[in-house]
Amino acid sequence: MSALFQPLALRDVTLPNRIAVSPMCQYAAHDGLANDWHLVHLGSRAVGGAGLVIFEASAVLAEGRISPQDLGIWSDAHVAPLARVTAFIRSQGAVAGIQLAHAGRKASTRRPWSGSGEVPPAEGGWPVVAPSAIAFADHYPQPAALDGAALAAIPQAFADAARRALAAGFELVELHAAHGYLLHQFLSPLSNRRNDGYGGSFDHRIRLLLETVEAVRGVWPAHLPLLVRLSATDWVDGGWSVDETVALARRLGPLGVDLVDVSSGGSAAQAAIPLAPGYQVGFAERVRAEAGIATAAVGLITEARQAEAIVAGGRADLVLLGRELLRDPYWPLHAAAELGVAAGWPAQYLRAAPHGSLQRDTADYALGEAGQGG
Ligand code: FNR
Repeated sequence: MSALFQPLALRDVTLPNRIAVSPMCQYAAHDGLANDWHLVHLGSRAVGGAGLVIFEASAVLAEGRISPQDLGIWSDAHVAPLARVTAFIRSQGAVAGIQLAHAGRKASTRRPWSGSGEVPPAEGGWPVVAPSAIAFADHYPQPAALDGAALAAIPQAFADAARRALAAGFELVELHAAHGYLLHQFLSPLSNRRNDGYGGSFDHRIRLLLETVEAVRGVWPAHLPLLVRLSATDWVDGGWSVDETVALARRLGPLGVDLVDVSSGGSAAQAAIPLAPGYQVGFAERVRAEAGIATAAVGLITEARQAEAIVAGGRADLVLLGRELLRDPYWPLHAAAELGVAAGWPAQYLRAAPHGSLQRDTADYALGEAGQGG
């Protein structure tokens, strides 16, 4: 009996197993619009057996894109191309989720294979914002401090994006409050030096995230799950800490957050991160035990037995895989075979499946219908 292949119910949504595609920027969109790359890339991972496919950081405002090629959800024009992808994912028996994001001071930067650092205005870059006017690093844009109406507009932008996500057929939303992006920038004393109601004390630093959760919960249906991704630590003295993560997680549950996706880092360019297999799992375990909320573990989880042990040991409720699922989109099917589980294979691939595999319960999918479909 495998714990990894047990379903997970989050509100009225049941993930068929505990394996999720971690959100990963593809830097492949024009004007934030999903295209064939997103359909094939994300669709392949649904075919490969992941129970949950979380779309990459998708910008809630155009200026919140990390790079000009990021996926976006800041306008209604983004809905139909996303709906085409979610319809395919659903047809494979997987759940489609989307990570809603604003990059703050880490916006307007080059995609990884086009150099690094700031995209200047002459090349399509834009002015960036942050809690305080402190750049992330030397070659990053100099941000302006968010104030007044622009600050008040942030929770609303996330809520508007969640409304569009629903129209696009997503059944799960994750708020990106990790990796040094805008919501994390408010959490961390390294990037937040404000002395108003949004900076200084712990309660003030978490305020923008709590307001954003409330705004999103106000429009995201009560029967659908809401996740928040946090960086458990900045890995720097004087930065955001694991104790603060636990204290924040305790506040998120009562506001309607169903699961905390526990990552780390991203606030400090110079942080020394002790990379090792499963190096962030202990944070997910601590949040789960001390804050009494479901968690996801992520980071250098690559082996079937490793993932199985995380879930079976009650260290996290869900595992997210990033790079390993880029190497092998069929990792969940291979993991099932290794763990002796009769996973459901797409009917089209059954002749290649290990003996004893089941046929997955999939819906017929016709491209012509998909565009209509949320
Ligand atoms: C990422 N990661 C990431 N994280 C996130 O929260 N939103 C994102 O859009 C991205 N984008 C992204 C792109 C690419 C190409 C990679 C490799 C990673 C981080 C990712 O979700 C995950 O947390 C880390 O990669 C660690 O997990 P793995 O790769 O060790 O399984």
